[in-house]
Amino acid sequence: MSVQVADPVADLVQAAKRVLPGGTFGNMPAEVVLKEGKGGRIWDEAGREYVDFLLGSGPMFIGHAHPEVTAAVEAQVPLGTTYFGNNRHGIALAEAIVDAVPCAEQVRFVCSGTEADLYAMRAARAFRRRDKILKFEGGYHGMSDYALMSMAPRNPGNFPRAIPDSAGIPKSVQDEMLIAAFNDVEMAESLIKEHKDELAGVIVEPFQRLLPPAPGFLQALRRITQEHGIPLIFDEVVTGFRFAYGGAQEYYGVTPDLCTLGKIVGGGFALAAIAGRADIMAHFDKLAVADEDFLFQVGTLSGNPVAAVAGLATLEVLKRPGTYEQVFASGRTLMAALDGLLKKAGIKAQIVGEPPLFDVLFTDQTVRDYRDTLKGDKALATRFNQLLRARGIMKGESKYYVSLAHTQADIDHTINAWAESIAELKKG
Ligand SMILES: Cc1ncc(COP(=O)(O)O)c(C=O)c1O
Repeated sequence: MSVQVADPVADLVQAAKRVLPGGTFGNMPAEVVLKEGKGGRIWDEAGREYVDFLLGSGPMFIGHAHPEVTAAVEAQVPLGTTYFGNNRHGIALAEAIVDAVPCAEQVRFVCSGTEADLYAMRAARAFRRRDKILKFEGGYHGMSDYALMSMAPRNPGNFPRAIPDSAGIPKSVQDEMLIAAFNDVEMAESLIKEHKDELAGVIVEPFQRLLPPAPGFLQALRRITQEHGIPLIFDEVVTGFRFAYGGAQEYYGVTPDLCTLGKIVGGGFALAAIAGRADIMAHFDKLAVADEDFLFQVGTLSGNPVAAVAGLATLEVLKRPGTYEQVFASGRTLMAALDGLLKKAGIKAQIVGEPPLFDVLFTDQTVRDYRDTLKGDKALATRFNQLLRARGIMKGESKYYVSLAHTQADIDHTINAWAESIAELKKG
């Protein structure tokens, strides 16, 4: 007679498959059921421990359950979690953003990066009284109809034609977006010149997914957009407060007209922001512009005090001397170790990214834009990730997010897991 042993994880997976499409929230596979995070580690429902390079898809830059963030949230919750009106913590967070981020003269809070990007594009349209937005192939700006154009085309077409990434997007949206190749100054310049009279704005991830900007690329975008009075939007949802306290605009030394922030700025809660030039942000102010130029924007949870205190506590930690140096040192050590192991094994691969955010691409060809990234051996990357998961490394499909909380023990564990997994890859 066999005894049935209850498997709580299998039960959860089964329940998820019953009530969630695809069995998931849309982010990670159904079999990954996470329970607890602390510092740079995370545990699943089966009790397995991982060094966490997923970091909640990026927000947990100073580590899970940071004591100062926890204390700030615990102090706020009994006072109420949302009011809809202004509150002192949201105001303080907006001030902190204005102090930190070069382009930020004013701030509007929303709850997700998707919303921030959607409203930044809308603000550019309101300001310019024109419709078209230029984005870059492979660039991710959230899930709006306009953003989901040529983000991950399986069969890239001819520039500048936009290809929808999702079902359910009205056909007309395609005609409102122009697509250029990341890191191609000539293409961007000729498209902007040709369409200058219809263009409302240019949106770019200053560090696109894993791709650093080629020297001079962001500077050229800045020059060309400025020449034609077209707002340049940096999507800093990932890079904000990560590449430097002032984000990628500080790190790469190029100031856009608007930027969007998310992830780190909400300290692990639902908060994101549009920030930028006061004359463009004025479109959010009914009294500052003509009726037809007013950008109508409200949100139930915008700037709620719990997310605001979590964001403020996170920024307090990040402001301390040595924080960015520590993250960059950890990232550099990890990148060099992985590169060395792959080279020693004779595997065609390269490490792409910057120290706070990188991954391996399994190709030895030059990688500068989205189409180059398709040259990477995806099956090998998936296999590598699976081998690593089994050895206590949690990461997304294509990113290692490095945290201030990652310790030397976390780094050592990761390097060992890499060595073992690469040995497995070699076996085939
Ligand atoms: C560059 C970038 N922009 C926008 C978004 C969307 O942010 P959210 O998931 O908060 O809507 C993301 C999310 O990963 C992102 O990486």
